[in-house]
Amino acid sequence: MKRIQTIEWQKNKIKIIDQTKLPQKLLYIYIKDIKTLWQAIKQMKIRGAPALGIAGALGIYLGIKDIEAKNFKEFKERLDKVARYLFACRPTARNLFYGIERMYNVAVGNKDKSVLKIKELILEEAKKMIEEEKDSCYKIASYGARLIKDKDRVLTICNAGILATLDYGTALGIIYKARQEGKRLRVFACETRPLLQGSRLTAWELKQKGIDVTVICDNMAATLMQQGKIDKVITGADRIAANGDVANKIGTYNLAILAKFHRIPFYVAAPITTFDRRIKSGKDIPIEERDKKEVITLLGKIRIAPCNVKVFNPAFDVTPNNLITAIITDKGIIPPKNIRDTLSAKAKGAPRWGHPSD
Ligand code: MRU
Repeated sequence: MKRIQTIEWQKNKIKIIDQTKLPQKLLYIYIKDIKTLWQAIKQMKIRGAPALGIAGALGIYLGIKDIEAKNFKEFKERLDKVARYLFACRPTARNLFYGIERMYNVAVGNKDKSVLKIKELILEEAKKMIEEEKDSCYKIASYGARLIKDKDRVLTICNAGILATLDYGTALGIIYKARQEGKRLRVFACETRPLLQGSRLTAWELKQKGIDVTVICDNMAATLMQQGKIDKVITGADRIAANGDVANKIGTYNLAILAKFHRIPFYVAAPITTFDRRIKSGKDIPIEERDKKEVITLLGKIRIAPCNVKVFNPAFDVTPNNLITAIITDKGIIPPKNIRDTLSAKAKGAPRWGHPSD
């Protein structure tokens, strides 16, 4: 099987898989300006928190690489604009902001150097971030696989796999690793209305990898649990607040409640770059609301509701920490009630991430 490359820097452009074309075709596209990148993120050609982090980082480089500035002040004015523009694209995934802020900090931290040098350093940092994100996925997978038993039946939602990251994935990375260790597994993928990342992307990806996958409509999860057919739920995350509340794809909260009721462990898998220590609890996480067209049509094609009907279309929900068994990170497995302590211990000595809008 050919390697799936979700996002990379190639030929002086950002190369991504256009995920709106899956599962029908695996189409790679090249992005050479930030307006096109903005649209690609908004339309979810590229999506999933860690992949968005890299899109933000490479997006900064794309937006500044051709700037002709006489000095740092001029350069920074343009950098600010690019950062603000990319910030405004999708509000929920912490990683998008992390990627942008990290590149921004490279510029500010090297303001004494030439503009040319700063540009080089930004690209280098983005490439470093790509390697770090890949590494995080392998670490999450190794920690998470320890929780998986032979013959486990795992339920997941949306896509937290290779297509949402750089390599391997978070929730699905755990499945890949457990499988490599010889465990036999079955995965149940919630189709994930309205944009069907579960049936279009997760099912496609797992089939590419030869994993036993069954697609269910979102409203079938309770029945499966009631019939004793699910051993674990594992999902990804878009942003994790300081108290361990988790924002993830809409429908995740439903699964967490169902899992609690049926006494099934509910795990969240995410890299540390998804944590947001500046946000105290889930109620402060900004939740993206998307176009009504996504709900009243099937992928923009067939209309399935009257066009003048009112629609509520939040892209994410928040699962409170008391419904989460543990969060599987690249630094280890953290019970949600220990998150604040664990992260503040790890953060000692780490630089505070700056923010262009601070
Ligand atoms: O709207 P999407 O497809 O970007 O939402 C993605 C998710 O909710 C994923 O579960 C999350 O980003 C984690 S990806 C490892």
